[in-house]
Formats: sequence, structure tokens, C-alpha cells
Amino acid sequence: MPESTPNVVGISVLKQNGLDVDALLKELIKNAAVEFTAYYYFTNLRAHCTGMEGEGLKGIIEDARLEDLSHFESCLERIYQLGGILPNDATEFIKISGCEFLQLPANPTDHKAILEKCLKAEQGAIVNWNKICQMTFGKDPVTYDIAKDILAEEIEHESWFLELIYGRPSGHMRRKYAGERPHTKKHSRALDMA
Ligand SMILES: [Fe+2]
Ligand SMILES: [Fe+2]
Repeated sequence: MPESTPNVVGISVLKQNGLDVDALLKELIKNAAVEFTAYYYFTNLRAHCTGMEGEGLKGIIEDARLEDLSHFESCLERIYQLGGILPNDATEFIKISGCEFLQLPANPTDHKAILEKCLKAEQGAIVNWNKICQMTFGKDPVTYDIAKDILAEEIEHESWFLELIYGRPSGHMRRKYAGERPHTKKHSRALDMA
């Protein structure tokens, strides 16, 4: 029996709403790659925050790092629902991210250089998720809900690093625990322990 292509109403309604589903999928997979790769690089950058001053930075970078993992998890299910898949080759996935700039600075324990890299990553993420918000607003409420929650956390992360580098107050209320992810928790339930 030949395999038939199913009618996916969850996609056809989006097309009727005027959404370019293929273009959205391309952006979603790119953003997933960025979040996954940033999680990896933040792990190494954080480990190089040495000494007394570095101890305070570790906590902030840890909150941002675990929330990037949450952002990766938060958009996965949606990619498959929309008919997409992740690249089979993980090295290809990493390449899509374009996150090479997050490699260690020339002096690997230069805290200011590390913070500037973190800030650049957060600012890039804001642009990425804002783009998905714009593509989906009024057309795809499910993807929009995910994107706007991730965007809210990226804006918080940016403000933390702006405060650390420039002394610009962020209104930062510390996370109650690392990985709290106040906006994206409901999208990344796979990370819950219980
Ligand atoms: Fe993120
Ligand atoms: Fe972030």
C-alpha cells in the first residue's frame, strides 16, 4: 500500500492565515541551533570565570546557560509539529548556529571579554526571537506564544550582562534556583525533574 501524505490541519490553517511555514521552519531550526550551541559555549565560558570576582559571574552565567537549554527544548516540539526535522548530522546543526564568536577570548580568563561575548549572544538571540514573533503574530498563536516567552528571558539576560559591563541597573531579581526559567518553564517540561 503506498504511503499517503496526511492532511495536517495544524499546518494548513497556518497557510490559510498567510504564514510561510517553510520560512518559519528555517528560522526555528536556526534558533534551535543557536540556543543549543550557546548552551555549550556558555558552559566553557562560565568555567573560565576564575577567582573571587569570577565566582559572582558564575551564578549569572549559569542562569543564562540553563535557560538557553530551556529555549532549545522549548522550540523542538513545534519544529516537528510543523513538519520539520533537525539535521541528521550534529556538526551541520552546530554550523547553522554561527556561534563561533562564543569561543574563549585570547586570554581565556579575561572576565570582561567573556561578559562581552555573553552580551553579544543575548543580543543576537533577541533579534532571532523577535523575528519569529513578527513572522507569527496574528498568524500562528502557538509558535508566537513560545517565541515571545523565550524573547522575554533573552531580554532579561541582556539586561544582566549590561549591568555587569556598564553598571546599567537591570532590576535583576535573582532566580530562585538555577534553571527556574520563569517564562519558558511550561514549554520545556522535559527538563523538570519530578
Ligand atoms: Fe536563549
Ligand atoms: Fe539567553
